[in-house]
Amino acid sequence: MHDVSDLVARQYEAYAYPAPITDLNAQIGAGYFELGDPKHYAPLIWPEGQPKQRMRILSAGCGTVQAAYLAHAHPEHEVIGVDLSSASLAHQRFLQERHRLDNLRLFQGDLRDVARVGGSFDHIVCSGVLHHLADPDAGLAALADVLAPRGTLLLMVYGATARAGVYMVQDALRRLQVPQTAAGVAFARRLVAQLPAHHYAQWYVGAAAELEHDAAFVDTFLHPQDRAYTVPQLMDFVGRHGLKHQAWVDNAFYYPDAALARFPADILAAVTALSDLQQWAVVEMLTQRIGMHTCVLRRAADAPQVAAHAFGSAAWDLQVPHRAPGLKCVQAAGPQQQARYHRAAEVMELGSTEAALLELCDGRRSLREILAQPLLAALPAADRAIRGEQFFARLWRLGHLLFSRPAPG
Ligand SMILES: C[S@@+](CC[C@H](N)C(=O)[O-])C[C@H]1O[C@@H](n2cnc3c(N)ncnc32)[C@H](O)[C@@H]1O
Repeated sequence: MHDVSDLVARQYEAYAYPAPITDLNAQIGAGYFELGDPKHYAPLIWPEGQPKQRMRILSAGCGTVQAAYLAHAHPEHEVIGVDLSSASLAHQRFLQERHRLDNLRLFQGDLRDVARVGGSFDHIVCSGVLHHLADPDAGLAALADVLAPRGTLLLMVYGATARAGVYMVQDALRRLQVPQTAAGVAFARRLVAQLPAHHYAQWYVGAAAELEHDAAFVDTFLHPQDRAYTVPQLMDFVGRHGLKHQAWVDNAFYYPDAALARFPADILAAVTALSDLQQWAVVEMLTQRIGMHTCVLRRAADAPQVAAHAFGSAAWDLQVPHRAPGLKCVQAAGPQQQARYHRAAEVMELGSTEAALLELCDGRRSLREILAQPLLAALPAADRAIRGEQFFARLWRLGHLLFSRPAPG
């Protein structure tokens, strides 16, 4: 009987993940970016402002690309990549040489031993890794131990509801003893192709375009070790290690505004009346759309000072709105038509005044400055404040705006 970590290591030697990118410049030029990359999500990670000019960033379980991507995107920071798989690290080295990434250091090993690298990290990225450990708590404990004071951790673990059917298929393939070989993959692909339309795995299969790559297919259906989390399980998991959820990378999946937009108004209102945590848990159960939870964590002790938004407080309008990565206007507002915005799979329509307010969100002006624009001069000041707060809080819940704000004095 093999230790499960050996099986996991062996998988990523044979099927290094993700499908390797051979030229970062070309890929980034074509619009690629990593979800949660500080270059695009800084206001979400550090709403109070970036802590340091030069940071130490750890990519824990870096796979084939992530550490090199971060080093390339952030030449001002030092990036350290750790992974079990020599095949994955070989590709990271290829990218390092190709792009002359002098700020990247790579280590082969288990992230549970990351303390051996030495020092602490200002920002840790750990995506798609901890759910593959036999003991994810041991992994998160090791990462929490090397997190610098006021450090941030970008975590991605699988979501339980959207993957329910994946685990059923995994179970069947395990009983059939289908191996991680070319023949095993071909067999499993034929099996998945025959799943009935009502099978719980169908939505996932349709949504995960990466399944066309064998490494992603093996990672999904032939993995020897993986588990997934509901929102409450995730909160318990991080809480056990003195960490606290600070922000989702995309609120659209968690708040009812987008996720339950088609539900009747009274049901929507009942969900919206719940606490944040309960809203997220209910939305997850009703949508079955969250296959990955991607979030920013802080030490619980730091979290109250850096809440990701200040709506509902006296300082709400001191916040500075930033448009979320990927948000684009595909149709301007006209006399007879609403403005239309797209971001990933989300679509939003806005009237001309609302669209004009959104266009004023440039990552520099505060909400107070935006709401003082002549655009809203006809509204009484109190109305302007109430409607302004409702409008911008909604755009935040839809995931279209991120907010930074001055650190509390
Ligand atoms: C699904 S891939 C994710 C890669 C990368 N984080 C990304 O998001 O593209 C999981 C990676 O974690 C690595 N891994 C799994 N368990 C590990 C452990 N205990 N310590 C270090 N790396 C590990 C695997 O070798 C693999 O490269």
